Amino acid sequence: MLKSLYAQILLWLLVPLLVIVALDAIATYRSAQNTARLVQERQLLGSARTIAEQVSYEEGRLTVSVPPAALELFDAGYGDYVHYRVTTASGELITGRSDVPLPTQQIEPEHWVAFDAQVNGEATYAVAFAQPVFAPGSPGPVLVVVAQTLRERSVLAQNLWLRGMRDQILLIALGTILIWAGVQRGIAPLRALRTKMQQRAPAALEPLTLDRVPAELKPMVEAMNDYIAQLGEQMQAHNRFIADASHQLRTPLAVMNMQVDVAVREVDGSSRAEALAAIKSSLRSNIRVVNQLLSYTEAEGLHARVRSSEPVDLAEVVRDVVVESVTQAQAKDIDLGVELLCDTVPVYVAAHALHVLVANLVDNAVRYTQAGGKVTVRLGLGIAGSVLEVIDNGPGIAPDQRERAFERFTRLHGKEIDGCGLGLAIVKEIADAGGANVMLDTPAEGRGLIVRIAFA
Ligand SMILES: Nc1ncnc2c1ncn2[C@@H]1O[C@H](COP(=O)(O)OP(=O)(O)OP(=O)(O)O)[C@@H](O)[C@H]1O
Ligand SMILES: [Mg+2]
Repeated sequence: MLKSLYAQILLWLLVPLLVIVALDAIATYRSAQNTARLVQERQLLGSARTIAEQVSYEEGRLTVSVPPAALELFDAGYGDYVHYRVTTASGELITGRSDVPLPTQQIEPEHWVAFDAQVNGEATYAVAFAQPVFAPGSPGPVLVVVAQTLRERSVLAQNLWLRGMRDQILLIALGTILIWAGVQRGIAPLRALRTKMQQRAPAALEPLTLDRVPAELKPMVEAMNDYIAQLGEQMQAHNRFIADASHQLRTPLAVMNMQVDVAVREVDGSSRAEALAAIKSSLRSNIRVVNQLLSYTEAEGLHARVRSSEPVDLAEVVRDVVVESVTQAQAKDIDLGVELLCDTVPVYVAAHALHVLVANLVDNAVRYTQAGGKVTVRLGLGIAGSVLEVIDNGPGIAPDQRERAFERFTRLHGKEIDGCGLGLAIVKEIADAGGANVMLDTPAEGRGLIVRIAFA
């Protein structure tokens, strides 16, 4: 397959053109042969008639004297041989060569025929003319046959053919130049578009203008503009994320910097230990912010890879997460439990992504539920597929806040509890990519929160 559109257009125009030229060469050859044959036929007939005019009836005999003019006609310098034969109606030779063949059919007086014949072992073309003779006893017409070898005729045919072909080749050459120029002109808008694209600044996001774009290219340019618009939105979202993320990182780092200053200046041992404890706490929350930011960018960029073709057992992931969270739960005296409503819970989401999802939900539940509360992770099979529920009896999220809770960097419960507001956004990204549905609900007891993830 040819890569260049230009080459393809030229190929599709020129190959058929060449086929036409080839066919035309054959047709021209035939017509040149025909013309040359007709010319020879006219000459032979003229010569036969001239000879026939000389037939006379003298002293009871038919005689003919062949005038030199009758044969001079043929002397064109190609070395052709001319033979003739004049016979009576009964086949008696009057003059000429007896080996010149006679026509196979009968010829009416004053009529003629042309035919191919061999004389002296060489191919010739012959014309036979029947000359009526008015004489006593009516001897019937005299037959004059004139035959000529084919040299001049083939030279003539060849010349005619070559001349015809030369004109045609000139025409084709001219046509090719015009086609080439036409195609160049035709694809000029494409080149212009390319130049326009090349001249754009790398991050330019303004749409391409549609004026002076040919109708055929409009859909393509429109599609490109749609794409540019989408890219613009994505870039804006990305920039917003980076601005938010840097804010999230800068503030706690500045705080830590101050804390370190204080610790360095502190001379008293116990105050110093206090300052160090504060630094450690800040460091922990900084680590959390960094981890959440990384999880989010990963979840956002992973879309294609979140789905798994092999089933992953959700129950196993949940058990791992619960084991990791036991210490955190115990520190708040929270009763953290798992309710398995079936043996295995197959889910088609990559294990790593699942782990991040479950860990964020359990972390939220343990974090926002008051000390002495209860957190349950329930696993079961719904109508469409596996269902994961993380249930707590904490403060819950008011129904009108639930949509907002999934937005990045949104925090609903004040600053006393550490966090950067990315957890639920991460959960949503992973669920969307894994084809799962996320819902927030209030437990039957009327207090707390259920986060329900229905996997497809
Ligand atoms: N189980 C829950 N009970 C009550 N409120 C919750 C619960 N889970 C989340 N929330 C509320 O939703 C908000 C957003 O939660 P999200 O997990 O996205 O962020 P975060 O926990 O504040 O920060 P992090 O990114 O560190 O997890 C939280 O700040 C909290 O106010
Ligand atoms: Mg959270």
